[in-house]
Amino acid sequence: MSHPIFQTGRTAVVTGASSGIGLAACRRFAGFGMNVVMVDIETSALQSAQADIAAASTRGGDAVLAVPTDVADPNAIDALKAAVDARYGPVALLMNNAATRLSGTFWDDPTPWRQAMEVNFWGVVSGVRAFVPDMMATGAQSVVINTGSKQGITNPPGNTIYNVGKSAVKTYTEALQHELRRTEGCRVTAHLLVPGWTTTGGRAHQPGAWLPDQVIDELLAGLERGSFYIVCPDDETSHEEDRRRILWAAHDITEDRPPLSRWHGGYDEEFARFEG
Ligand SMILES: NC(=O)c1ccc[n+]([C@@H]2O[C@H](COP(=O)([O-])OP(=O)(O)OC[C@H]3O[C@@H](n4cnc5c(N)ncnc54)[C@H](O)[C@@H]3O)[C@@H](O)[C@H]2O)c1
Repeated sequence: MSHPIFQTGRTAVVTGASSGIGLAACRRFAGFGMNVVMVDIETSALQSAQADIAAASTRGGDAVLAVPTDVADPNAIDALKAAVDARYGPVALLMNNAATRLSGTFWDDPTPWRQAMEVNFWGVVSGVRAFVPDMMATGAQSVVINTGSKQGITNPPGNTIYNVGKSAVKTYTEALQHELRRTEGCRVTAHLLVPGWTTTGGRAHQPGAWLPDQVIDELLAGLERGSFYIVCPDDETSHEEDRRRILWAAHDITEDRPPLSRWHGGYDEEFARFEG
């Protein structure tokens, strides 16, 4: 890995680090000899994940710090920042990756909507606010990776709470990258990681899904290319199919179609022809 971020002794902070994509990212970063700060709300899972990552680190347990944190709590994020400063100093990589899959309906109690936004959107905002100003101040090349979702781009019916949060993360991260790019002397870049269908959270692996390690391969290749949008395929959906689905969703606006027309009925044949 020739990217200047992935060097021995540089520091990565990863939220949602106990499981899935976050855990796979930590393992990879530890293998590069980075200091890895693992952040998760699940304290006992975090403890065993820390041991796993310490074993994977080329620099042993001293290069791994686990900080139980609810990313929805801005004070906890500030305490996390203080703990990272005290242990390792400046951060080279911030991966805002924690998410909840809370669901709810349009008409019932709105509490799950608020809770999901607190984690899936405000958790990202708090991470950026706490860490990025100092990342900019170091003058060293550094990256922010926010984990989005195809659901935040194409908005499939099913779990609108999740789609709304991921759509907000997409919009926020796009504007963040614009802000960083137009800040003189800034060497921090932001990136939107968009995993495909990935086996995580202790679920059984299904044919068609990717494994978290494949997502990390795609992430590293995207960073190496300098891509902002790092959209992962899986064994069911190719890059080209994703491209067509994203275009179809944008065409709902430009072609004056109903929203979510892909799932509308009435457009099935046209969509099938478009997808190819
Ligand atoms: N797995 C997929 O198919 C898929 C697809 C698209 C996007 N994603 C995104 O990838 C990211 C990682 O998810 P995953 O699939 O690896 O799931 P996962 O469930 O394996 O990991 C998510 C982790 O986030 C932690 N977390 C949840 N709420 C938290 C909070 N308030 N504070 C701190 N940590 C919290 C969980 O404890 C868990 O360890 C998420 O942002 C998810 O939305 C996943």
